[in-house]
Amino acid sequence: HRCEKTPPAQPRSVFSIQIVEKNAEPEMTLLTYLRRKLLSVCLTGTKLGCAEGGCGACTVMVSRFHSNRNAIVYLHHAVNACLAPICSLHHCAVTTVEGIGSVASKVHPVQERIAKAHGSQCGFCTPGIVMSMYALLRNNPQPMMRDIEEAFQGMMRPMIYNMILFSLMWQIEGCCGSRGKAGGDSTNSVQQLFDPSEFMPLDPTQEIIFPPELMVHSHMNPDQELRFIGERMQWIQPSSLKELLQLKAEYPAAKLVVGNTEVGIEMKYKNQFYPLILAPAFIDELNSIQYTENGIVFGASVTLTLLGNVLHGEVNKLPSYKTEVFQAILRQLHWFAGQQIRNVAAIGGNIMTASPISDLNPVFMAAGCKLTLMSKDGKRVLQMDDKFFTGYRKTALKPEEILLSIEIPYTRKGQYFSAFKQSPRKEDDIAIVTCGMNVVFWEGSNIVQDIQLSYGGMASTTVLATTTRSQLIGRQWDEEMLQDACSYLTEEMTLSPSAPGGMVAYRRTLTISLFFKFFLTVQHKLAQEHLSTEDIRPDYASAVAPSHLDSATSIQLFQAVPPGQNMDDVIGRPIMHLSAVKQATGEAVYCDDIPCYKNELYLALVTSTKPHAYIKSIDTTDAMAVPGVVTFVCAKDIPGSNKTGPVVYDETVLADEKVTCVGHIVGAIVADTPAHAQRAAKAVRISYQELQAVIITIQDAIANESFYQPTRTIERGDLTQGFQESDNILQGEIHIGGQEHFYLETNCTLAVPRGEDGEMELFVSTQSTALVAKALGVPASHIVCRVKRMGGGFGGKETRSTILSTIVAVAAHKVKRAVRCMLDRDEDMLVSGGRHPFFGRYKVGFKKNGKVMALDVTYYSNAGNSMDLSLSIMERALLHMDNCYNIPHVRGTGYICRTNLPSNTAFRGFGGPQGMMVAESWINDVALSCGLPAEQVRELNLYKQGEYTPFNQCLEQFTIDRCWRECMNISDFHQRKANVELYNKQHRWTKRGLSIIPTKFGISFTAVFLNQAGALVHIYTDGSVLLTHGGTEMGQGLHTKMVQVASRTLEIPSTKIFISETSTNTVPNTSPTAASASSDLNGMAVYNACKTLLQRLEPYKAKNPKGFWEDWVSAYFDRVNLSANGFYKTPDLGYDFETNSGHPFNYFSYGVAVSEVEIDCLTGSHKNLHTSIVMDVGKSLNPALDIGQVEGAFMQGVGLFTLEELRYSSQGYLYTRGPGMYKIPAFGDIPTELKVSLLRDAPNEKAIFSSKAVGEPPLFLAASVFYAIKDAITAARAESGLIGPFRLDSPATPERIRNACEDKFTKLCPPPEPGTYTPWDVRV
Ligand SMILES: Cc1cc2nc3c(=O)[nH]c(=O)nc-3n(C[C@H](O)[C@H](O)[C@H](O)COP(=O)(O)OP(=O)(O)OC[C@H]3O[C@@H](n4cnc5c(N)ncnc54)[C@H](O)[C@@H]3O)c2cc1C
Ligand code: FES
Repeated sequence: HRCEKTPPAQPRSVFSIQIVEKNAEPEMTLLTYLRRKLLSVCLTGTKLGCAEGGCGACTVMVSRFHSNRNAIVYLHHAVNACLAPICSLHHCAVTTVEGIGSVASKVHPVQERIAKAHGSQCGFCTPGIVMSMYALLRNNPQPMMRDIEEAFQGMMRPMIYNMILFSLMWQIEGCCGSRGKAGGDSTNSVQQLFDPSEFMPLDPTQEIIFPPELMVHSHMNPDQELRFIGERMQWIQPSSLKELLQLKAEYPAAKLVVGNTEVGIEMKYKNQFYPLILAPAFIDELNSIQYTENGIVFGASVTLTLLGNVLHGEVNKLPSYKTEVFQAILRQLHWFAGQQIRNVAAIGGNIMTASPISDLNPVFMAAGCKLTLMSKDGKRVLQMDDKFFTGYRKTALKPEEILLSIEIPYTRKGQYFSAFKQSPRKEDDIAIVTCGMNVVFWEGSNIVQDIQLSYGGMASTTVLATTTRSQLIGRQWDEEMLQDACSYLTEEMTLSPSAPGGMVAYRRTLTISLFFKFFLTVQHKLAQEHLSTEDIRPDYASAVAPSHLDSATSIQLFQAVPPGQNMDDVIGRPIMHLSAVKQATGEAVYCDDIPCYKNELYLALVTSTKPHAYIKSIDTTDAMAVPGVVTFVCAKDIPGSNKTGPVVYDETVLADEKVTCVGHIVGAIVADTPAHAQRAAKAVRISYQELQAVIITIQDAIANESFYQPTRTIERGDLTQGFQESDNILQGEIHIGGQEHFYLETNCTLAVPRGEDGEMELFVSTQSTALVAKALGVPASHIVCRVKRMGGGFGGKETRSTILSTIVAVAAHKVKRAVRCMLDRDEDMLVSGGRHPFFGRYKVGFKKNGKVMALDVTYYSNAGNSMDLSLSIMERALLHMDNCYNIPHVRGTGYICRTNLPSNTAFRGFGGPQGMMVAESWINDVALSCGLPAEQVRELNLYKQGEYTPFNQCLEQFTIDRCWRECMNISDFHQRKANVELYNKQHRWTKRGLSIIPTKFGISFTAVFLNQAGALVHIYTDGSVLLTHGGTEMGQGLHTKMVQVASRTLEIPSTKIFISETSTNTVPNTSPTAASASSDLNGMAVYNACKTLLQRLEPYKAKNPKGFWEDWVSAYFDRVNLSANGFYKTPDLGYDFETNSGHPFNYFSYGVAVSEVEIDCLTGSHKNLHTSIVMDVGKSLNPALDIGQVEGAFMQGVGLFTLEELRYSSQGYLYTRGPGMYKIPAFGDIPTELKVSLLRDAPNEKAIFSSKAVGEPPLFLAASVFYAIKDAITAARAESGLIGPFRLDSPATPERIRNACEDKFTKLCPPPEPGTYTPWDVRV
């Protein structure tokens, strides 16, 4: 077997290697092969983000040579390396990110653009994005914006904002002309975020050619079967159909694998094992495409990409009436997975998986497609009807049969077909309900001759609504038929209240709402063909309009540096993230990219499956029998203390006697490879004695009074008086769901024992240089913790990463060898906790004009099974309960709920967003209750300069009013509002909503001692400078900013300054990189160290004023110390909750956002149409990085408030453990129009060079999207006569939006009576 890359004919300076692999292991994926097997060449540029095809971090380009159609064709496809079995790549060329360019030689134009357009932040998924773009350009050097968006559909990227700019780079040079604008201006200078004229042109002739050797090989021995025999699996690639059928007869249990996008997941995550794989991908009959009188016959191995291309061609060629089914399939394919999946996944794979939520099966079923099945004894043809799927993931196929092909029929005149898919996220998501709908009319009439309605997501198989069908045949297509059809469907498409997948009322409503869409579509077509007298009402038309596919545009505005600023002074300039190019070429080293140590071992976690239980026994017999296993580590192996916790030591490193959540870490297996360790970890048997009570939700905790202490309160004024002075009082509630950090790089630690004095070196992906010394029982000074960079952190690597690093260190201590562990995505999501879910209950008193007089609000947070940082998070929520509103009489109380969930932890915003979200809920209710525009009530209640917060801090340098005015202005709010109102009058089933939301975010750690930082600066005799500080780099650009600070302070070009890493042996006792304060704190410490050095060099500068830096540092020869440390602590901090006195914050960051959305009232989907943001970041240190933070935080907030939903069973089992079920925002969630403006002329005297913190404050501005959705729902409810406040919990998912848009369809499907059943999932 050869998996090769050969040098190009016209060589670019690229890294090309040729590898001959004689022992391809069938269980091994291409990703594992690149990262682990090819140790000698270290191809670690391709990253592991999820191992389930859901994030795109592992994208590579696979090229194949085809010569079967009298032409030589090279197919270049972006492919997920994590799902591609290495054995499937026979005769393929694989191009990884290293293969197209490197810093040392020459970067590729794609790599250059993503770096210079600031499209790389943490950089972990950058190689994947580069390779998606590269594969696109190999096939299409002048792509349209839509092609680019499609190429990125399979990318899951927490900070996708700058992709707009990156994409536009191709547009600017290509066909469409510039659509974006990014620039800053001062009085007379204009600066861009980057300069496109610098970019190298793309020259397709310079690309790597397909290795001729592989063409030769593919012609050799075409009839020879290929067989790969692995440790416990065999992979056979038969050379002919006959051979395949023979093998299937011989081994009926053998599994066929084409794209492996289903089987790969089953093996990795569903504990399935298939000892024999048959790979029919290259058998001609299974790849053939034949045109018959009735339709097109596609071989079962035809990929979805090819299916789409063929159907697209037919739709363009044939009359529209003939291709109704083809058009419907194309619509489904557009929302089917990402391109990387579609490039390899086969039609046959989709059918034969028999998933009840398959997107294609309902279409095939409703269309009456014919399937040809074959065994060695011959063929048979089956209609794909209600008998084909015989049970959950079962079909009528016999064990010795295979699916040969599927015939997709043409449609005829008088036949109409539609397909719909509703999923939590539009792009690359699995369906909640999906359907195909087919109606045939008697010729020249609107009388139904036949109708087939097929649904996915409504049972354990794809189903046909056969009873409804029989009732509708012979009926006229009119309003009366619609009413009856809805009743029949409601009766036929039932679901148990406990049905897997939950959302029972929503799913039932969808079946009829989607039928209504079909009804309107057909009625409109009938009217156009004069077969019906009635066309649909004009205000109903948008219900059937295709989803918005407008490409995104963006504008970024910032203030340029003053004219005359020295060119070497980079403060205020939009300089690129210092690692961006290395990130784009895959050369940036993350924790798991560190080459393996000799004899290194790998660790896998063993976790609890019970929420609350005593551990009776642990049986490791089966686990120890797995090859390569070295040891099992448990609590008794900890040489020091097993107690841990960042503030209170209330948890264990490894569960001792008791487990208190599903996912509680009980032990770990150490083995020679990740595969062996993970296999053995699954074989550890733990027996439990279950305990009561099991407390999962906030409501459970309230009922059981299960709270951590203390309960916090902030109170100002006199509530009784406030309520008396009010004209009205209202009460309300809101639940705000938690959030998974979804850093692309999961938690990772490499522990290397140093052999003497208990010394150990740890390489960790952490925001806080982890403390493991206590568990090892050695002094902290003996442990060195190093962090080069992280692939994202967002708070999730502040304290929870410590547990993993401690376990790995304990294991390394036990086996006296280097031990590594990078968690799989499902483990990471299971064990590491996330943002705290919050429940807010409020009573608010207000005047008729909307002026709020009194507020009594209670917060409950779901902290999980340990305290972790929950107290500080609740404190921050309370300190933000006012958001930007002056409330004369106010009381806020916070309860921290102790539950049987993994401990929740820090997450960007740290309780602030939850605190402010409740505030926006009550102020929105006040506006609705007064019948006043929400923006008017918000503006009326805004603080003014010099007023005091409930915690008695005076608001100085207050800029909210300026941000508000500018945001109103740039969003053209009033005109936009008039347009929205007009739109809503003209549309019944889609509604638009608009909202403006302010934010005020307090900067400082609320734990005062953390507001300190250190730095260490060395000047070397050649003039180069090594800078170290206490902050860690996780993509936010902290190191870049620190180099800028040092550069200005030392008055030298930034190119002379280098940051290698963060480590505990250079700067000790560091505070976590958190609270948005790292630039402020570390920046001042760096400034302090640099000033010290500058003072020491001053005499030399004075002596030789015309000299250069290199001359002055020769002070060394006078024995001047060229190394200095710096220190900073924020002055005047310290707040006392008991007395409500003192300052919790150094200053506040402010911002305002306007958002406009459109909702589909029938499905609950929404589209973000517009967002304008004005953010006060003081005098920006680096506008490119700051805008990146604003847009990245905003999009993460969009995920929090509209999309991301962690789903748990009533026993605390987390269902959402990967990107398949947990969706973060994708490209399509970026507002179609996005404007970001950094407030001008707003210097902040309280931080380094007048800047302001920016990491967390903009996140809350995404609430503007939530409240725009609520505004749109308000308009929809008004159509049903529903006026006034209503509850909408966060996130505003399609389910919640649809359920809130009450109408005749929702009335037919009432929710099951609470308390009468056990729901599939509970809201925690
Ligand atoms: C990230 C991701 C996103 C996805 N998104 C979607 C989505 O949006 N909509 C959707 O419907 N699905 C989705 N899927 C599921 C999956 O991609 C599809 O079902 C795909 O079509 C499977 O094709 P495959 O070739 O990869 O199947 P494989 O994994 O190779 O095989 C799947 C099953 O089909 C059987 N099989 C394959 N060919 C034959 C044959 N000729 N005869 C008999 N049995 C055969 C195999 O034995 C196996 O049981 C997604 C999967 C992933 C990983
Ligand atoms: S690692 Fe392959 S798609 Fe996520």
